[in-house]
This record gives sequence, C-alpha cells and structure tokens, in this order.
Amino acid sequence: MRMKINYSFTRFHILTSSHWYMNQLDAAAEILKQGGLVAIPTETVYGLAANAFNEEAVLSIYKTKNRPHFNPLIIHSNSVERFAEWGIYLPELALKLASEFCPGPITFVVPSSKKIPDMVTAGHDSVAIRIPNHPLTLELLGMLDFPLAAPSANPSAFVSPTSAAHVKQQLGDKIKCILDGGECQVGIESTIVSFLENTPRILRYGGLAKEQIESTLGIIVNVPQVKGDISKFIAPGMMERHYAPNKNLIICDDMEKELLNHQGHSIGIISFSKKYGNIDLKKQFILSPLRNLDEAARHLFSALRSLNDLDVHIILAEKFPNEGLGIAINDRLKRASVQ
Ligand code: TXA
Ligand code: MG
Repeated sequence: MRMKINYSFTRFHILTSSHWYMNQLDAAAEILKQGGLVAIPTETVYGLAANAFNEEAVLSIYKTKNRPHFNPLIIHSNSVERFAEWGIYLPELALKLASEFCPGPITFVVPSSKKIPDMVTAGHDSVAIRIPNHPLTLELLGMLDFPLAAPSANPSAFVSPTSAAHVKQQLGDKIKCILDGGECQVGIESTIVSFLENTPRILRYGGLAKEQIESTLGIIVNVPQVKGDISKFIAPGMMERHYAPNKNLIICDDMEKELLNHQGHSIGIISFSKKYGNIDLKKQFILSPLRNLDEAARHLFSALRSLNDLDVHIILAEKFPNEGLGIAINDRLKRASVQ
C-alpha cells in the first residue's frame, strides 16, 4: 500500500490527453516507464526527470535543455538502500550526513556503478546521487524500479525553476507533463559534496549550509577550488556564467553609490531587506524583510525571473552576508553577473 498523501495543493499539467483518466502519480510513473520526461517538484528546484537506466530517455533530457554533453546529471531515488541495490554505496561520512539530512538538499558524489550509463555520468567514474525532500516526488520514486536522472528543469545556463509555472513558461511545449507540487521550499539547488578524496569537498554551494555539514561531521570540509586544476574540484557544470537572466547584473558593495552611477537607466534591485528611494517598488525585490538567509534563498530565483521579464536594463544586487545560505546566494549572483 502506498502512503496516503493529501494532494489538495497539487495540480497536474498533462499536456497530452491520453493520460487524463489516470491518477496523477500513476500517469507520471507511466510516462517515465515508457521513456518519457516528467518535470518533478523537489524542495530545491524543479527537475526534468527521466529513467536513468534508459539512455535514449536521458539523451532527450540533454536535447530538451540544450545541455552540453560533458555536464553529468544527478540521479534521484527515495533511500540510501535503493542506491545500494544498484551498486552505489555511500562512505561512512556520507552516511552520517544522509542520516541527518536526507531526504534533503544535499547531493553526494561517490564512485559510480556499472549499472549507470555513461550518458548520465558524462563518462566520469563517479556519480552524483540525491534523495529529494518532496512528498509527491518521494512517492513517485517509490513506484519506480529505476532512479531518475534529473537536472534542473530550465534551458541550460538560465535561472532554475522554483514553481510549475516557471517550468511551463520555458519548457511547456517540449514536455508531456509537469507534476505540480507548489513552490519549492528551499529554492536554491542542492549542495554537492564529493567523497572521492579523503576529506569531503563541497563542489557546489547550495541549500544545505556548509556550517551544518561541518558541525555534523565534526571536521572542516574542503571547498570548491577556483584556481589551478579545477576540473576535478568543482562540479563540471559550474560554468562561470550560469543562473543568468538576460540582463546585465551588477553586485554592489555600496548600493547607494551604484544607484548614483547608473542614474538615468531603468534599474531593478535585488536587496536583502532594505527599500531604496526613487526606484519603482515593482522593480525592487526584497528577499527577506527580517533578514533571514533561508527565506532570501527561497525567493532569489523567482526575483531574477521577474526582473528578466520587467522593463529593466540593469539589475543591481546587494552582496549577501557570506554565511549559511548567503554563500550559495552570492555564488548564484556572481554567476548571473558574468557577461
Ligand atoms: O537541487 C538539485 O540538485 C537539482 C534538483 C532537480 O535535484 N538538480 C540540479 O541538477 O541542480 P543540475 O543538473 O542543474 O546540476 C547538477 C550539477 C552539475 O553542475 C553537474 O556538473 C554536477 O551536478 N554533477 C553531476 N554529476 C557529477 C559528478 N559525477 N561529479 C561532479 N559533479 C557532478
Ligand atoms: Mg541546473
């Protein structure tokens, strides 16, 4: 028997008529079993999911997103034990984090298994695995006898989607169904941690704070390497320009000064908690009036999308405190600012 979940908050966009009579999760499972794509909600961002064991299905993810083939995918399932059934094992320190934070916004890079196609790992001998924390997707994963390969459900290099409407806006004409699980509660991608060296290394800052990882493990972890041979020490998909709206974005140490510098331009603002005078309030996105970094992270991507759609020429973004999820927010703003 499946766990009973209250779906009253969900809507299911099925863009073909053949599945309309089925339960929404049964329909999504059916599409995935047949090699189709389904956009799935997670606590971080929406994913564009396919059967990770079906190379053709995985290839269609790359095509749909226009994603470069060198950029490997994260695979998702609902428990550590299921990954072990497929030959993927977490080392001790990873297990410690998993027991504390999974399901949750952390991805583990570990040695891969023969069962995982090169199409998923982009030929690397490691694989990225994650147990997302969303009731609909956890139930869906429990109905499948394969993991789901799922990158964020946006065209490559654009801002990740944090609602079903965002997915529909950009990929709605390319995919059969979007499972609508409401707004993402974390709102920024998972923290990726590699366990391929003796000391765990963060490859991408994300929805689980470095401080929480370190206090659980009782050690200082390594961080993404920015100089030298970076190929092994950052996630291959962490391109310099990423998460980017189609607007010029400037990170400001001193917002008032930048406002003066850009007088006469149509300006949009991303601020932590402060309102700025003389700027249209509709073009100011205050991410957390009470200065809570988790709340700010939750609102960041939808603010970037809104500013992209508004009549704004330059986006001025405050620099956030470099702690907790502020580190991930600053990382995304920096990549969005690259020309
Ligand atoms: O929160 C998330 O992680 C979301 C949701 C949908 O789960 N997924 C996500 O996927 O952000 P994507 O494809 O947008 O980003 C995955 C990142 C890429 O930068 C990729 O290079 C990295 O994970 N990655 C995948 N496999 C890897 C591996 N074996 N070694 C290092 N990095 C890897
Ligand atoms: Mg992505």
